Amino acid sequence: MIPAKVINKELLSSNIAHVYLRPLRRLVDPIPGQFIMLWIPDYEEVPMSISGYSGGLLRVTVKARGPTTGYIVKDLPIGSYVGIRGPLGVGVTEELVRGKGLLISGGIGIAPILYLVNKYNNLLKESKLIAGFSTNDESRLIRSITHKIDVDVVTEEGPNGCTVVDLLTRKYLGIVTNYDYYLVSGPKAVLDQVVKLMPTNMRGYVLAESLIKCGLGFCGSCALRNLLVCRDGPLVRADHYRWLIS
Ligand SMILES: Cc1cc2nc3c(=O)[nH]c(=O)nc-3n(C[C@H](O)[C@H](O)[C@H](O)COP(=O)(O)OP(=O)(O)OC[C@H]3O[C@@H](n4cnc5c(N)ncnc54)[C@H](O)[C@@H]3O)c2cc1C
Ligand code: FES
Repeated sequence: MIPAKVINKELLSSNIAHVYLRPLRRLVDPIPGQFIMLWIPDYEEVPMSISGYSGGLLRVTVKARGPTTGYIVKDLPIGSYVGIRGPLGVGVTEELVRGKGLLISGGIGIAPILYLVNKYNNLLKESKLIAGFSTNDESRLIRSITHKIDVDVVTEEGPNGCTVVDLLTRKYLGIVTNYDYYLVSGPKAVLDQVVKLMPTNMRGYVLAESLIKCGLGFCGSCALRNLLVCRDGPLVRADHYRWLIS
């Protein structure tokens, strides 16, 4: 475990914050889609996607869901110390995002996409990101990358509210042949629906979700059939994911 200092926190909505961490030892440069195990003293160790990494400063984007994430967002003090393990898992390499991509994100699934868009900026110029959030407040997460990639955002708020899966179905499903590949990140319900909707002959990738405990391939709590998400994922080819959920 590497100790890390909380350098800054940026509250983006009532329940989401960017947290900037300075590891006291240099990390191996993370690949977008990889995650860390973040240990908070007196709380639990939780998996968090890397949402940014620059000059040795690591960023995670945390949504308050339970006790640990609630504490991180609301109370974790700047200047305090946490523990990190990682970067862990299989991420998205440059080769995979060559061509014109359709990136699809639901909710906090945007966290790894923020790092992806910043790191592979030049490769994603022709690509499109469609993103869905529960509230207008949460959709502010996207602002930092709207000048780097073409973005279409929806929220579930208001009379015209809809989900990213609705947006995909209404506006993009008919034109998916314009794209070379797709990549989806978000809650399991979104991943499953997108993979079922997209043409089976299209190159696709999923950033899979599961219950991660050890993060090391030992405990089996993250297993989806024969795949250990912490070790073999989170990045999974869509055709493999389709089989995992069948
Ligand atoms: C690879 C990976 C990357 C993730 N990246 C992010 C991220 O960038 N930002 C973010 O806000 N959240 C992310 N999560 C989810 C985050 O880890 C959980 O919200 C967190 O563990 C909840 O802990 P808690 O103690 O606050 O709440 P708990 O009370 O433990 O759980 C609240 C809910 O969160 C989910 N959850 C709990 N434990 C886990 C776990 N170990 N793995 C996955 N889901 C869990 C369950 O649905 C549970 O009902 C990621 C999860 C995985 C597996
Ligand atoms: S979390 Fe223990 S094997 Fe994946």
